[in-house]
Amino acid sequence: MTFIYPVDSNTAHPLPLSPEYKSSIKRAPNKPLIPMRHTLSELTGPVYGHETVREGDADLTTQHAGEPLGERIIVHGHVRDEDGRGVPNSLVEIWQANACGRYVHVRDQHPAPLDPNFTGAGRTQSDASGYYRFVTIKPGAYPWGNHHNAWRPAHIHLSLFGPAFATRLVTQFFFPGDPLIPLDPIFNSVPTKSGRERLMASYAHDVTEPEFALGYRFDVVLRGRKATPFEGSAR
Ligand SMILES: [Fe+2]
Repeated sequence: MTFIYPVDSNTAHPLPLSPEYKSSIKRAPNKPLIPMRHTLSELTGPVYGHETVREGDADLTTQHAGEPLGERIIVHGHVRDEDGRGVPNSLVEIWQANACGRYVHVRDQHPAPLDPNFTGAGRTQSDASGYYRFVTIKPGAYPWGNHHNAWRPAHIHLSLFGPAFATRLVTQFFFPGDPLIPLDPIFNSVPTKSGRERLMASYAHDVTEPEFALGYRFDVVLRGRKATPFEGSAR
């Protein structure tokens, strides 16, 4: 049986070709896409990750001998389907720059300090009701060379794995009040205002913990009119 989802539910996602986002010019397909049926092994084969999630992987501030520098934050969210039902047991992974806007990656030569106490990657599973939670450091802005004086607003990358290898979704979320957001071609590659708004984390006082860290909420909707915009969701 073939499921065809309404095209409307695809309008949330970034356009493959967004000329302001320069690398999308080389990356975007220039021929019509060919639908490929998923094979049985793609749908039923083993998925990496779930069984190797360890206690503490969701706390990016305790992975080294000392505490990382920067503003400690809690990121909490709900993974749900188009009907609002929580999606349990999703592998949720995040990666991000440190408080100075530097990634631990050979390609990142931005002259900002690395933090020996911060790697910038963590993972967890959504719980039985679909909720996830991370403790981390608020990332800094970083320059990215897309155009003159181009700076990415603070953001955290997030990946979700469902029950099959073919069910991976990748997105990134932003923090309220950041003046760089309206200038960001990646944020603006999401075609609708409502889609862009769904990439914003919100300050959540109920997630904030006294004397410890500010809390932010970022919910993820997998599909439908309220779908979170996902990268690489070509149409
Ligand atoms: Fe990034």
